Amino acid sequence: TAATLAATPPMGWNDWAHYQCSVDESTVVANANALVSSGLAAKGYKTVTVDDCWMASSRDSGGTLVANSTKFPHGMAWLGSYLHSKGLNFGIYEDAGSSTCGGYPGSGQPQGGGADHFAHDAATFASWGVDYLKLDGCNVYIPSGESTEQAYHNAYTAESTALANAGRPIVFSESAPAYFQSGEWGNPTWFDVLGWVGQLGQLWREGYDIATYNSGNPTASRWSSVMSNYGYNRWIARYAHPGNWNDPDFLIAGDPGLTAEESRSQVALWAMMNAPMILSSDVANLSADGLAALGNTDLIALDQDSAGRQAGVVSTNGTTDVLAKPLANGDRAVAVLNRGSASQNVSTTLASIGLPNCTASAKNLWTGTTTTSSTLTATIPAHGTAIWRLAPSAGCAAAVPTGEIVGNGAKC
Ligand code: GLA
Repeated sequence: TAATLAATPPMGWNDWAHYQCSVDESTVVANANALVSSGLAAKGYKTVTVDDCWMASSRDSGGTLVANSTKFPHGMAWLGSYLHSKGLNFGIYEDAGSSTCGGYPGSGQPQGGGADHFAHDAATFASWGVDYLKLDGCNVYIPSGESTEQAYHNAYTAESTALANAGRPIVFSESAPAYFQSGEWGNPTWFDVLGWVGQLGQLWREGYDIATYNSGNPTASRWSSVMSNYGYNRWIARYAHPGNWNDPDFLIAGDPGLTAEESRSQVALWAMMNAPMILSSDVANLSADGLAALGNTDLIALDQDSAGRQAGVVSTNGTTDVLAKPLANGDRAVAVLNRGSASQNVSTTLASIGLPNCTASAKNLWTGTTTTSSTLTATIPAHGTAIWRLAPSAGCAAAVPTGEIVGNGAKC
C-alpha cells in the first residue's frame, strides 16, 4: 500500500541544489560512491535522485523518453543497476506538464491538449529500475474552463495511477503544493492542494527551492533560504503522518554557504519536522561539522521515528522558536532555535511542552550529556539549535499532547 512505501521520510541525495543542469553520470556515480564511503548510506541516505536535465531534447520515434547520451553514456537502466549494486535506490525527475522546468519533454499533456505520457513514462521508469519519482509542476496545461488546481489534480492523479500500474513500487514525490504557495497563508488553494497530495503520493514539496550552490561565490550565505523554508514547513505538521511527508526541500548542511552552527540547525530542524533528508551537495567535500550533523544517529532517529509526528511549534517570539513532538516509545523531542545574531541563554520548562509536574532525563543530542530536571537549559549560539530527547520520569502527570499553534491563516 502507499503507506508502506515511505513509512518514514525518504532519505538520500539529489544533484539539483549543487549541480543544476550540469548533472551527468560521473557526477551521480561519484556522489553515490561518496554516500557509501562516508557512511551516510549505511545510516539511511539511500535514494539517489537524478534531477532535471538528464534527458535528450525529444522523445524517440516510439514516444519513449531517452537520456542525453553525452551526459549519461551508459543510459539509465545501467545507472539503476549500478546504484542497486551499491545497495542504493534510484530516483528520477519528470514533470506533470508539457515540459520540465528546464525545457525537456514532460509527462503531461501538450499545450493545447492531447495525449499525456504518464503511463508510458512510468513503464519506462519501471523498466530502468526506478524506485522514486520526483514529479515537478512546471508548464502544466490548463484546459479552458478548468481551474489551475483541477488541472494539477488531474495530472498528479494520472501519475499516481500510472505508478500503481507500473509493476514496481515507486515512491511518488509531488511538487504540486509548491506551485500554489503564492499568497501564502491567505491562499486557500495551497491548503486545498496540501489536503489532496497525500492521497496520491508519499511526499510533497510545499514551497520554495532551497538556494542553489553559488560556484562563483561558494561561501555566499544560504541561511536565509533555510530559514524561509523552515518558516513555512513548521506550521503544517497536521499534513504529515507515516506514509505522507511535508518536504521543505533539500538539506545543504556541510555546504560552504552555511556555518557549522547553521548546518547543525538545518539537520536538527528537518529531523524535528520529519522532513525527507535529501542531501543536495558535493558529498565528498562536506565540511566535517556538516558530515557529523548529517550522520548524527540520534537526529536521524527523531526524523525516522515510527510515530511519524512532525513537531509542532510550542512557542515563538520571532527570535526563538520552541518545537516539540512525541515519539513512538513515549519519549519527547524538544528543539530550541535561536534565529538571532547573538548567543542566547534559554530555559524551557517541561510544563511548557506539555509535561506539567514532571521531570525527565534529557539527552542533549549534540553533546550526548544526560541530565534529569524539570527545566531544559542551554546556551545557544547565533543561528544555533539546542535539541534534546527526553524520557519522562515515572509518575509524570498525564501528558498533554504537544500541538501545533493553529493560526497564521492556517485553514482549520
Ligand atoms: C524546480 C524544482 C527544483 C528543480 C528544478 C529543475 O525549480 O523546484 O527542485 O527540480 O525545477 O529544473
